[in-house]
Order: sequence, then structure tokens, then C-alpha cells
Amino acid sequence: MLSERLYQSIELMERYSIELAIDLLHRLDVIDRLGEWRSADELCHVLSFQPRFSFALGWILERLVETGCMEARTDGDTHFYHMRHAPWQPELERLRAVGLNIDPANAATLDLLDHAASLYPAVARGEQSGDHSLFGPQGILLWLNYFHNDNLTYAVNNWVSAMLAADRLSTRPRLRILELGAGAGSASKILVRWFDERGLLPQIERYLITEPNAFFRRRGQRDLAKQYPDLALEWGALDVNLPWDAQGVALGEFNLVYAVNVLHISKDLLFSLNQARSALTGNGWLVIGECLRPYVNQPIYPELMFQILESFTDVQTDSEIRPNPGFLTADHWRRAFTRAGFERVEVAPDIDSIREIYPHFFTGAICGQNTAASK
Ligand SMILES: C[S@@+](CC[C@H](N)C(=O)[O-])C[C@H]1O[C@@H](n2cnc3c(N)ncnc32)[C@H](O)[C@@H]1O
Repeated sequence: MLSERLYQSIELMERYSIELAIDLLHRLDVIDRLGEWRSADELCHVLSFQPRFSFALGWILERLVETGCMEARTDGDTHFYHMRHAPWQPELERLRAVGLNIDPANAATLDLLDHAASLYPAVARGEQSGDHSLFGPQGILLWLNYFHNDNLTYAVNNWVSAMLAADRLSTRPRLRILELGAGAGSASKILVRWFDERGLLPQIERYLITEPNAFFRRRGQRDLAKQYPDLALEWGALDVNLPWDAQGVALGEFNLVYAVNVLHISKDLLFSLNQARSALTGNGWLVIGECLRPYVNQPIYPELMFQILESFTDVQTDSEIRPNPGFLTADHWRRAFTRAGFERVEVAPDIDSIREIYPHFFTGAICGQNTAASK
């Protein structure tokens, strides 16, 4: 799984997103405003952009800092930017060809990056909403291709999570699983496949797969029900932001609560983590896959695709566990799980060591056990 092809694909996506950031700096007319020191908020104001676009603009500016063309300084909590010299002409076509040569399945990520970037000017000016545009007819197909196990750079999220879940639960005689935000089922498919390979499928007594979007849910249901007709699969809709017991999730019912790339969009992270803990049996596990930011404030390529979504940015922040919307560091997740009362909290693989050698590995799974009285 952690192959040369994956490494090269990640490096390519990082570079491609930097080239898109340069391109956007021109298309948003930001480049001419950076002769003097400016913050992202100030730029949004002078360019009459939506104030909420400041988060995405900050990401673009940070990517330019990595090129050496932009200088940054910090005053209190505010970052200011200043252009040192003009950036090079982006080479998107050449890089796309390189990416497809590494792996033709990289088209899914390149297409979604391009599509998201094409929406930035209209979203900045408030002419379109990010959610509406990304989930429009064109966006939805790109979305399905991206969150697919043929897409190696995404599938790795599903693999690390499934492996951690199996490690934590393999000795249980009976398993009741609740999955959140299952989308079209890419994480569910890998979980079932990995449990199958480990001989754990007969232990599954109940697997409730939830997803609020009916279109995604039906796609996942269609594929999985056909492939595993004998498995005790159930489907439902669950919104992680609303009380779970009022949505048909019994307290203390599940040995595993599972979610891949979902909980970072929870409006109130502690609320959702507490709901997950309440849904678990006394020794049950919450296992989540998340895109992890190796270092605080480090911009990472997947953000380009998601940071124009209101659902991604409109969340409650907290200096200790969630200083920014979107992707968090392993430390933030450890603290959040611990504050929500989970024990034996761990992140796998060992992101803290990996980032010292390779700071562009963005994938991890976090687990924590509910040690409250058993049902
Ligand atoms: C990034 S996708 C991940 C999909 C799936 N886990 C996978 O890996 O293929 C996030 C999913 O969370 C769902 N979602 C969005 N808001 C949610 C909410 N408030 N509660 C539960 N799920 C939500 C979305 O519909 C989407 O399917």
C-alpha cells in the first residue's frame, strides 16, 4: 500500500496544487495587491471577496510561501504576506501528464483539483456557493471518482483505518458496527474486505452503515449488498451534528463506531465525539480515518478541494483541539479524543516519526476506547 507509486503520486499532487495556487493568484487578481504586506482578511476586503473566502485565500498564500516567491510574517495571530518576486508560469498540463504516467487513476484527484480551482473566483465573489457547485451534476461524478478505492491517494485512508479497527476488535466474539458518513461506501468496502481477509466476517452480528446523502447511500448499498448478500448489513441516515439516539442509534449498542474522513466536518467536534462514545459498549472502540496535517499551519493539497465547502469551514474552533476548520494534526485528534473521555488513544501509523522523514504523508487513523461501565 505505501508504495513508490503512492509516494510519487502524493509528491505530484503537492506540486500540482502549488501550480494551481499560482494560477489562482492571477485569476483572483490577488497578485497585483501583494506589493505591500497584506493579510488574507485585508485582501478579501479590498477585493470585495466574501469574508469566508479568507480561509481559502490564506491557503493559497501559504502555498506561495513554499515557492520562495512570497514572504510571510506573523503579528499576533495574523499572518501577513508580501510578494518578493513574480512566480513562474504554472505548468499544469505537463504535470498532469506526469501524474497520469505515475498512475492513470490519478486522473480522479487531478480532475477534482481542477474543478474545485475553477470554482474559486465565483465562490470568492459570492456568485456561487462551494457546496452547491461541488455537488452539482459535474462535481458529483468527480466526487464519486475521487472517493473511490481505485484512487490510491484516497484509498490509503480506508486501508489504515480498516487495519486499525481489525487490530482493536479481532478478539471479540460478536461485532456490532456503526459507520458514519459512509458516502458511496469506499471505506465500508475496504473494512468488509479486510475483515474478510482476517476471517472476522462471521463475527459481524450487525453493521449499520449511515450516510445522510440518499444518492451516495444508495450507491454504496447497491454495491455492498450484491457483493456480500449474507452479511448483516443495514443502511440509514445519521447526521453527526444532531443527537444520535433521536436518530435511531441506541446508547451502548456498538463495539465499533467507524468513520473515514467525516468527523473533521462535525460542527461541534466534542459533541460528536461524545455521541460516538455514548453509542459504544463499555469497552467499544471509536476508530476514525482522517487526513492529518503533519505540522500546524502546513498547507496540504487535499484542502484545495474541500476548503470552499461551507460544511468544511463553518465549524466551532477551539485553540487546544481544533484551532482551524478542516484537517487537524495527530496531536489535536489525540487531545480531542482524550477530552471527550476516550482512553487508550492512539494514532496509526506513527505519524510523528513519519513526518520527520517524509512531511507529505497525510493519512492516519485515530482510535480511542470507551471504558465506561459495560452494557
Ligand atoms: C469525505 S466524504 C467520505 C465518504 C466515505 N467515508 C468514504 O471514505 O468514501 C464525507 C461524507 O460525510 C457525509 N456528511 C456530511 N455531513 C455530514 C453530517 N453532518 N453527518 C454525517 N455525515 C455527513 C457526506 O455526505 C460524505 O458522504
